[in-house]
Amino acid sequence: MSRSKLFKPIQVGNMFLNHRIVHAPMTRLRATDDGFVTELMTKYYTQRSCIPGSLLISDATFAGEKSGGYPNNPRCFTKEHAKAWIPVTNAIHRNKSYMFMQFWPLPGEIKDEYRNDIQRLKEIAYNDCPMDPVGLPAGVESFDTVQGINIYKKKYMSKQDIQEHIRDFVNAASLAIHVAKADGVELHQVNGFLLDRFVLGGFGNQCDPNYRGSVENRCRFALEVMEAVVQEIGQDKVGYRISPYSAWMEQIDSVETHIYLMKEISRRFPKLAYVHAIEPRQYWNGHMMLKSELNTSYLQNYWKGPFITAGGYDPGSAKEAADERGTLVAFGRQFIANPDLVYRIQYNLPLNPYNRSLFYAPKNPLGYIDYPFSQEYLYATKGKNNKHTQV
Ligand SMILES: Cc1cc2nc3c(=O)[nH]c(=O)nc-3n(C[C@H](O)[C@H](O)[C@H](O)COP(=O)(O)O)c2cc1C
Repeated sequence: MSRSKLFKPIQVGNMFLNHRIVHAPMTRLRATDDGFVTELMTKYYTQRSCIPGSLLISDATFAGEKSGGYPNNPRCFTKEHAKAWIPVTNAIHRNKSYMFMQFWPLPGEIKDEYRNDIQRLKEIAYNDCPMDPVGLPAGVESFDTVQGINIYKKKYMSKQDIQEHIRDFVNAASLAIHVAKADGVELHQVNGFLLDRFVLGGFGNQCDPNYRGSVENRCRFALEVMEAVVQEIGQDKVGYRISPYSAWMEQIDSVETHIYLMKEISRRFPKLAYVHAIEPRQYWNGHMMLKSELNTSYLQNYWKGPFITAGGYDPGSAKEAADERGTLVAFGRQFIANPDLVYRIQYNLPLNPYNRSLFYAPKNPLGYIDYPFSQEYLYATKGKNNKHTQV
């Protein structure tokens, strides 16, 4: 059994976590065509929350009509959408674990011709690898084009558009907490999506002048979203995800920009549940691995609260991060393939390999809920009336 700090309990916001392994947010396209959570999703989250005191961050969820709207991605902007999440949060809570719902708007409004054509969208936007070595979603060449195709309606982002997005975030956060019974929400400023696009200056001069140019201006939208959501549901129910090494970092001073963000978060929202940062990664032996000589630890000088690191971890490097940096560690791909990942890492058990071709397979149970638990876990929990494998 591991003695690493990875298995030391920690309080995050109002949650009492028994260990520091977090389920990373992952888009899996298992919702209905119109964005309602399915039984399949309940089963997936029931399985992944089987170790009590775990924190799971949900699929990136649409917070409003303007956020995106393509099929099979979950939504939470009407009361009905929010109610559909209840079986998931109930199941997670029955397992004595917690869920933060992640909210993302896409980098722009998708053109109608792609909006309802998931096959086409999948071909051009998803590819099978979430990120290339510099951090861009595979096939994405710029903020607007994916494999040479502009999938977004070209649109100037006016102050009014920005205000509408902020209202969407607030409405969705309120529904997530009060109706869906999530434990908190995670705001997504990663990988060139909308908030990140602002932070990175990706609209050029195609947005309101108060939101472009200086570091303060570029971060204004993200901080306004945080302010509004925090006012609605409280700091301790809000987490914030960043990817300082994502797209186009060479075009802006990403380090300076993210240090500014950390300082502002510490000053304005010192009780924020956590900051969650994606590390730079590199290909090695056909896999995307942690790029060990570069990491986001410098941000921990400016944000002293709970810090989750993610991206390319294996059990060994995760223990190192927990022990040396005092962080929580989020796992993505390994959690897809291992419903009992926490148990396996704790007891040094081998991990199931993941099947990348089924990462984004709309409504498909395969590659989603059919990865096996370890015999050791099943034996250890036998007779304990543990419903982890059933909905
Ligand atoms: C299938 C898949 C979907 C993902 N979807 C999201 C997402 O919706 N939101 C997000 O912030 N990151 C998303 N990511 C990135 C993961 O949260 C994580 O940062 C990434 O997989 C690196 O961690 P890993 O090396 O442990 O897989 C996704 C990754 C994968 C593999």
